[in-house]
Amino acid sequence: MSQPPLSDAMESVLAESRRFPPPPEFAQQAHVQTMEQYEAMHRRSIAEPEVFWDETARQLHWFEPWGKVLEWNLPDAKWFVGGKTNLCYNCIDRQIDAGHGDEAAIIWEAEPMPDGKPEVVRLTYNDLRREVGVFANVLKNLGVKKGDVVTIYMGMVPQLAIAMLACARIGAPHSIIFGGFSASAIKDRVEDGQSKIILTCDGSWRRGKAVPLKANVDEALTMTDLVETVVVYQRCGNEVDMVDGRDHWWHDLAQGVSDDCPAEPMDSEDLLFILYTSGSTGKPKGIMHTTGGYMVYTYLTSKISFDLKPGEDVYWCTADIGWITGHSYIIYGLLPNRTPTLMYEGAPDCPDCSRFWDIVERHRVTKFYTAPTAIRAFMKWGDEFVKKHDLSSLKLLGTVGEPINPEAWMWYHTTIGAERCPIVDTWWQTETGGHMLTPVPGATTTTPGSCTRPFFGIDAAVVNSEGEAMPTNAGGILVIRKPWPSMLRGIYGNRQRFIDTYWSKVEGFYTAGDGARVDEHGNFWIMGRIDDVIVVAGHNLGTMEVESALVSHPRVAEAAVVGFPHEIKGTGIASFVILKGEVPAGDDAEAFKQELATHVAKELGPISKPDLIRFTEALPKTRSGKIMRRLLRDIAAGKQIQQDTTTLEDRGIVDKLQAHA
Ligand code: WT7
Repeated sequence: MSQPPLSDAMESVLAESRRFPPPPEFAQQAHVQTMEQYEAMHRRSIAEPEVFWDETARQLHWFEPWGKVLEWNLPDAKWFVGGKTNLCYNCIDRQIDAGHGDEAAIIWEAEPMPDGKPEVVRLTYNDLRREVGVFANVLKNLGVKKGDVVTIYMGMVPQLAIAMLACARIGAPHSIIFGGFSASAIKDRVEDGQSKIILTCDGSWRRGKAVPLKANVDEALTMTDLVETVVVYQRCGNEVDMVDGRDHWWHDLAQGVSDDCPAEPMDSEDLLFILYTSGSTGKPKGIMHTTGGYMVYTYLTSKISFDLKPGEDVYWCTADIGWITGHSYIIYGLLPNRTPTLMYEGAPDCPDCSRFWDIVERHRVTKFYTAPTAIRAFMKWGDEFVKKHDLSSLKLLGTVGEPINPEAWMWYHTTIGAERCPIVDTWWQTETGGHMLTPVPGATTTTPGSCTRPFFGIDAAVVNSEGEAMPTNAGGILVIRKPWPSMLRGIYGNRQRFIDTYWSKVEGFYTAGDGARVDEHGNFWIMGRIDDVIVVAGHNLGTMEVESALVSHPRVAEAAVVGFPHEIKGTGIASFVILKGEVPAGDDAEAFKQELATHVAKELGPISKPDLIRFTEALPKTRSGKIMRRLLRDIAAGKQIQQDTTTLEDRGIVDKLQAHA
């Protein structure tokens, strides 16, 4: 294990940072209303986890009660041992049983707007039970049994939600692959999960074009013989090849099929799904989540972090269901909370850059959850797209996916939230299943850039490699010291990698792979992946803080920072910078680079001054929007790229950066 990251420079950022107590009008109506209340609940959840989680689990439906709440043999947890439940039942039937069948469960909006008019589909719990029932029977008719892995590679259409809920209903674990991935990613995941069936669409709309999903599946299936059945939902009407005996249209299979399909009682520890991590490093890992603990934890985090109130909220998470954010916080955490969840099919800049705000206005969205990378794009596009719309319905804003730089946080707070909406910066991972560090919006005083405090039941700490807590503000390794209900149960088919990756860095604790520090208020600050820390002249610098400093310059839209071999210092700081507006040329460019370097030195201290600044139009990112720093490291070092680039959004960006190196 490398030295834990230390951060001197972050302190100056901290000194300037602002603190935002929850707006009183919000706090007065919130589930948790004061810091004292949060702290008392958190203390109790750690001291008596069995009592705390027992009480929470009782709020949901179980066919049979559990015996022990937790059985813990590091690194293996069993939660709600022996309990029988069904997550699909809790998403749908439980609401119907309580008399809410006619309320909206899913609100879907298509990307295309023929004649400028939006196309919206509103599914009630009754509708959803019918549709899910039919498709669950379709799966059974195709021979899918409890325990069979169903691969899903679809666009953001209601049938994606229906498909996953149908799998959960009959106990077939799903493995959802984000529609932006290519054929080789499908092949790898199908083989890793030994999956014999794929659900897909002919295409999915993205900026007015049909992404050829079925054609990608066909290409993947030339590389593997495993798949026997492909079900195709017709969305775009683009031409597709149908292979006789293997491929079937969804609408043909659904014809005349009964909608009555009772939910299968599942054991608490039965596999619910596999989800491959986006992986900015190494081969994707099939993260396993099981039924009971995942259900209880995503239910409670949704309720508390977003302060959900049945009948009052319209919730919108802009993620794709192909990521864990979409699994947990579009579908599985939301429906059991009886909160209508909005799904939008397409791109934020279609037909123009105000699409999201148009959606918020028309659907009166109250809780909005997005990623820093999207927020920075909105900032770059300009406030006029926001100002055109009435955003007064918004009550709370969330962010997830990477550290949010304070500038983006402030813009979100003022321009989108009108200084009225608490911001919940939620730190978690595919592996954790749900929010781990997050403000509790009625209670927590927030600070731009900090994901604040641990959620109930989460014993988080920042430690050195011996597991000893670091002093206030000193950077270290972020660990979780106790099991929590939605923790991953393993990496599919790879026990050793599970142990090596998460349970071997600091003895006895779960290591997330992130560096962090805790400030004098007890707030956590994520410093980025441990791999992204650079040591310059003996100081540990989080690349994230240098990026934040760059982005705080009014002309900088986005920045990525990596280390590179430097003759004098050993490691130098290289930065790749996207500017707002025109990019200066010649002498002006040199002068402006000087200005930027000086700006960083002023913000963070001279040690953090970039040695190399490159202007670029774009940064290499994974499809989930994470900057691929390992590629930038090679580019900065002047090396040829020989690494795996299959998870890259756009390979052209790398080629361009190399050509101009
Ligand atoms: C990694 C997990 C969890 C949903 C999306 C990403 C980074 C995530 C935050 C945040 C700082 C964050 C971490 C983490 N990350 N949220 N609020 N602040 N960093 O899921 O692909 O599994 O990635 O994303 O580095 O380890 P993922």
